[in-house]
Amino acid sequence: MSGARRGSLVVVGTGISLVGQMTLEALARVKRADAVYFVVTNPATEAWIKRLKPSAVSLEDCYAEGRHRAHTYRDMADRILDAVRAGKQVCAVFYGHPGVFVRPSHDAIRRARREGFRATMLPGVSAEACLFADLGVNPGRAGCQSFEATDFLVFRRRFDPGSALILWQVGVLGEASVRKGMTASPDRLRVLTNVLRRHYPSSHPVTIYEAAQFPFCDPHIKRVRLARLPEQKILPTMTLYVPPRPSRVRDRRALRWLIGEIRGANGATGAKGATGAGAKSAGGAGGANR
Ligand SMILES: C[S@@+](CC[C@H](N)C(=O)[O-])C[C@H]1O[C@@H](n2cnc3c(N)ncnc32)[C@H](O)[C@@H]1O
Repeated sequence: MSGARRGSLVVVGTGISLVGQMTLEALARVKRADAVYFVVTNPATEAWIKRLKPSAVSLEDCYAEGRHRAHTYRDMADRILDAVRAGKQVCAVFYGHPGVFVRPSHDAIRRARREGFRATMLPGVSAEACLFADLGVNPGRAGCQSFEATDFLVFRRRFDPGSALILWQVGVLGEASVRKGMTASPDRLRVLTNVLRRHYPSSHPVTIYEAAQFPFCDPHIKRVRLARLPEQKILPTMTLYVPPRPSRVRDRRALRWLIGEIRGANGATGAKGATGAGAKSAGGAGGANR
């Protein structure tokens, strides 16, 4: 086997909150690697990774104002793969969960495997995991759907408003590239709001959420009515949570009437038969079919 074939790749996540949310396994992989590349959201996390691995290299310079995100992501994967091809044990570090809404991590793994290198991903703590904890959302209660906000609009994604809806990257809605200090444009938020209003009342509460990036800090949680969404300042690090629409209230009178009708019909059938066995067996068949 040639030297280059011995290269390998492991992709790990930092979690959202500094230090505490990185798994012990991810920490060990950073320390053990020959080469570490990283993409994180704040200078404190960057300093911490450099303390763990002084030679670690930021891929931040792949971003440039006005540059299409697809080119940025391809460059990131290229740089990671070059080191793998050079025979190094490479660790690529992304913030949050490294496989959640991160294209270069998946691309680098796919390409490395295609070229015959060992490549794996370790799970991390995502913004969604923090949201479940901070907003008290149990996805098992009514189900939960996640979409990238621009993709949600462009592809008219079908969803169930009776389940929770999480929209990612609302702060960069419709943007092909990232600029410093950007926030979601009110016009685009209006388009998103109009689409959501087809499924929810305008008074439906929605939450603009940002998990704390530092321990002992509070998350940013702002609840507004859906109709007020276009006026909100939404940063690229924020996520929109739309709770399930309350299930429709049953019309008790209609229900009582319906039950009466069914009972009446069963009674009539029973009266016709000599023993009422016909009504019984009909009920039994219904039970078996339920
Ligand atoms: C490129 S994705 C990265 C997601 C990240 N890998 C994760 O596991 O959460 C960026 C999007 O993640 C969400 N996000 C990132 N940081 C967040 C935070 N601190 N709080 C809430 N959402 C966040 C936002 O929707 C943002 O637009």
